[in-house]
Amino acid sequence: MAEPKKLFIKTYGCQMNVYDSERMAEALGGQGYVETTTPDDADMILLNTCHIREKAAEKVYSELGRFKGLKAEKPDLKIGVAGCVAQAEGQEIMRRQPLVDLVVGPQSYHRLPEMEAKTRAGEKALDTDFPEEDKFEKLKSRPKAKRGPTAFLTVQEGCDKFCAFCVVPYTRGAEVSRPAARILDEARDLVERGVREITLLGQNVNAYHGAGDGGDWTLARLIWALNDVDGLERIRFTTSHPNDMTDDLIAAHGECEKLMPYLHLPVQAGSDRILKRMNRAHTAESYLRLIERIRAARPDILMSGDFIVGFPEETEEDFQATLDLIEEVKYGYAYSFKYSPRPGTPAAERAQVSPEEADDRLQRLQALITRQQREIQDGMIGRTVNVLFEREGRIAGQMVGKSEYLHAVHVRDAQANTGDIRRVRIVEAGTNSLAGEIVS
Ligand code: SAH
Ligand code: SF4
Ligand code: F3S
Repeated sequence: MAEPKKLFIKTYGCQMNVYDSERMAEALGGQGYVETTTPDDADMILLNTCHIREKAAEKVYSELGRFKGLKAEKPDLKIGVAGCVAQAEGQEIMRRQPLVDLVVGPQSYHRLPEMEAKTRAGEKALDTDFPEEDKFEKLKSRPKAKRGPTAFLTVQEGCDKFCAFCVVPYTRGAEVSRPAARILDEARDLVERGVREITLLGQNVNAYHGAGDGGDWTLARLIWALNDVDGLERIRFTTSHPNDMTDDLIAAHGECEKLMPYLHLPVQAGSDRILKRMNRAHTAESYLRLIERIRAARPDILMSGDFIVGFPEETEEDFQATLDLIEEVKYGYAYSFKYSPRPGTPAAERAQVSPEEADDRLQRLQALITRQQREIQDGMIGRTVNVLFEREGRIAGQMVGKSEYLHAVHVRDAQANTGDIRRVRIVEAGTNSLAGEIVS
């Protein structure tokens, strides 16, 4: 039998890319590839890229440059670029880096096997179309391999919101939701393979409107259907837009047993003037009232968010409004970024805040977030949480998992297996994780 060819995939960016990389590995599995963890012995290298900030996009080119030596040693090595940089820059990538054989945008992954064959025939392959067909249906996994206890499942892709700073509507296209029945099938399949927690993914996941039994299904309806899947224990979803937090979804947070008390709800800024310039279509006040309603439904919910500092024309007063909003919400986690002008987006053309000012604001914002995060983690000490164990820890007998609030929890002498859910009393809070003991 022929030696299997080896595939090395490096994934950048959001969870959507993580999910896509798994699908690409499965698709190329059909072409005789097995995954390898290093580029050194690979027959094909795929970079699944992110275009969200300039740094993320530039990383791709420096990484590609590093493969020069490998390709010289092994002329048969094929190098491909997938993901959002592929979509945004297309042909330009091959011009800038001639060693690239294949460029494939996120909507064309189901065409990867043909494209791979083309590169084997010595040709270059490029596809950045937005075809109509359901790529995930075509990419359906064949191997029924066992897998870890947590999985991502993409239910919706693309975005129609056009925030003034963001490339996603251009790289991922318009909002498209997958039909509910396909998602439920995929969820059942994951559960059969050992998955106990599913995170539903979408750039705008709460705008999900998929075809289902009896018509159009909302995300809440889909979550309720998943709640009935035996063996599935936990449901999460990310990322949501405040304007799509519908009443049924808020209610589900209070009533749906398997839906975890954690919500990532980016607001980006706390100044109404800036929110308007960002084209966010909500105000700080409407966001705060929304969180009140979510907390009324699920008082212990842990909130997380995304923030951009140094958006064009942001003044110190605008920035202060962001800090005020953070003070009011109290976030358990937050991701914060310096504004990065992206070609083709409206905000890139506007008056920019100086890098020094933006750096200073980012530091102040992160200090506040770190304090809040720490307070919330300290507040967990003495509480009992449910931990889904995901892997063994570094110390013998130690297990690491996640609480319902998505905190990482370490347990010594856990006497538990990967995939077990146990009651754990928190005894210690560290910077990035909690430590606990199993409650017998
Ligand atoms: N669809 C999600 C996530 C989009 S990208 C949402 O709407 O929330 C993830 C985060 O990257 C965004 O929430 C935003 O905070 C940040 N981001 C997007 N474009 C950016 C840019 N040009 N500069 C800096 N941060 C950006
Ligand atoms: Fe980007 Fe805004 Fe869409 Fe999120 S909602 S993906 S930030 S355009
Ligand atoms: Fe990046 Fe594309 Fe995700 S730009 S954040 S990989 S949708």
